[in-house]
Amino acid sequence: MLEINGLSVSAEDKQILKGVDLRVEPGKRIVLMGPNGSGKSTICKSIMGDPSYRIMGGSITLDGEDITALPTNEKAKKRLFMIFQEPEEIEGLTASRFLRTTYSKLVGDMADFQKRLESAREELKLDKDILSKSLNVTASGGEKKKLEMLQMLMLRPKYALIDEFDSGLDVDSVKKISQLINTSEAGFLIVTHNPAVFKHLKIDAVNVIRDGRIIASGGREIVNRIEKEGFIWAD
Ligand SMILES: Nc1ncnc2c1ncn2[C@@H]1O[C@H](COP(=O)(O)OP(=O)(O)OP(=O)(O)O)[C@@H](O)[C@H]1O
Ligand SMILES: [Mg+2]
Repeated sequence: MLEINGLSVSAEDKQILKGVDLRVEPGKRIVLMGPNGSGKSTICKSIMGDPSYRIMGGSITLDGEDITALPTNEKAKKRLFMIFQEPEEIEGLTASRFLRTTYSKLVGDMADFQKRLESAREELKLDKDILSKSLNVTASGGEKKKLEMLQMLMLRPKYALIDEFDSGLDVDSVKKISQLINTSEAGFLIVTHNPAVFKHLKIDAVNVIRDGRIIASGGREIVNRIEKEGFIWAD
């Protein structure tokens, strides 16, 4: 289980997270919703070990091991993976070179690399040409997200944090990716703003964050309430 206990995080002297508790069990799909600026991306990036965020209190444990202070590459080796809200552009590094390097570092054995790459690319309906271009540089918003998904399908993480998974994706792609998430054995923390995605995505729990605190947790009924009343109802 990926467990976050009492996580308090600051950046540039501003306290962003104020004691967040979250649990993601293997095979479960946990949703995180909340207003803009409430701390959703900060939770994902802090779990991953982004050095711009300072952990002031609390802990992150992965299958019982405290990983709070581990550097990002060590966390990735433990099969923790994150899809960014805004994937980074890297001029001069082709997508295929990037995929090959991360795969060899995190999976090691290259025997299945090409097979997994082709099958993930087909699943996501990504154009072959994109692999020989600089990572994310000329890709559309949806293609950037799909390149991240491609990496996830190839690496098969145990836990995946997906920040704004549907942003930029067309309806068919949201459906396809939801189906891939539904049938995956990984545990997911899924950030989204869009209640419509729950038409396709099977979910196990919903957590609502506001101003750096989890203010509600429950099931699908919470999504219906957010859809009707926005985030104001928690007052
Ligand atoms: N590196 C940083 N330095 C300073 N402040 C930051 C930093 N990262 C985030 N913040 C601030 O922390 C708050 C939470 O930001 P965060 O990106 O986690 O929000 P979010 O819930 O993901 O919002 P959105 O729905 O718009 O993506 C915001 O007020 C933001 O300005
Ligand atoms: Mg965000």
